[in-house]
Amino acid sequence: MDKHARADHPIHELLKKRWSPLAFADRPVPVDVLRRLLEAARWAPSSYNEQPWAFIVATKDKPDEFQKLLHCLVPGNQTWAHAAPVLMLTVANHNFKKNQKPNRHAFHDVGLAMGNVCVQATAEGLFVHQMAGIEVDKARADYGIPPDWEAVAGAAIGYYGDPKNLSEQLQAREKAERTRKPLGEFVFAGKWGATSSLV
Ligand SMILES: Cc1cc2nc3c(=O)[nH]c(=O)nc-3n(C[C@H](O)[C@H](O)[C@H](O)COP(=O)(O)O)c2cc1C
Repeated sequence: MDKHARADHPIHELLKKRWSPLAFADRPVPVDVLRRLLEAARWAPSSYNEQPWAFIVATKDKPDEFQKLLHCLVPGNQTWAHAAPVLMLTVANHNFKKNQKPNRHAFHDVGLAMGNVCVQATAEGLFVHQMAGIEVDKARADYGIPPDWEAVAGAAIGYYGDPKNLSEQLQAREKAERTRKPLGEFVFAGKWGATSSLV
């Protein structure tokens, strides 16, 4: 399925190719490839180089761990994410280690780390589908996530599968056109809401 970004201006091929599929192939991701995705996350920038991220990873070859993570996703996400060979939860530390003061950019930095994972994954021929639909309290209880850390999002990772294996409803979602706001709606200059002449 070709869901490449129809960009208004030329962007890098890896960014054009990335999208969030529902159909995943029944094919494992080699451990060294998975390690490279996590290494890409490791080299993301972060405020004060705090690296306020942690990743809980479950692969299908460890069925108990996989089921445990799958059940931290909301039911709607479980319906398709169960097919992915790798599931992940991202977790953020709300406080700076050195003084326990709130780190306002913790979620931002976790997002940057996941951005790196997405780019590396695309370069490896993989797809990442991130999920806000997770059970945050269940993840805390099941994994013993400490109070100053919080689960941010889930991610299903794998090779693209056959959309025909999806329900009709999910097939329709899978085929839907990808849309984006135009630059003019969110690039401002001078004052809030005034479109920049750049765009
Ligand atoms: C933080 C975040 C949370 C998301 N949560 C969900 C989710 O719970 N379920 C889902 O099916 N897709 C989820 N998505 C996928 C988005 O819907 C998707 O990225 C968006 O529609 C743009 O599509 P694209 O990634 O194919 O470009 C999420 C994406 C992100 C980045």
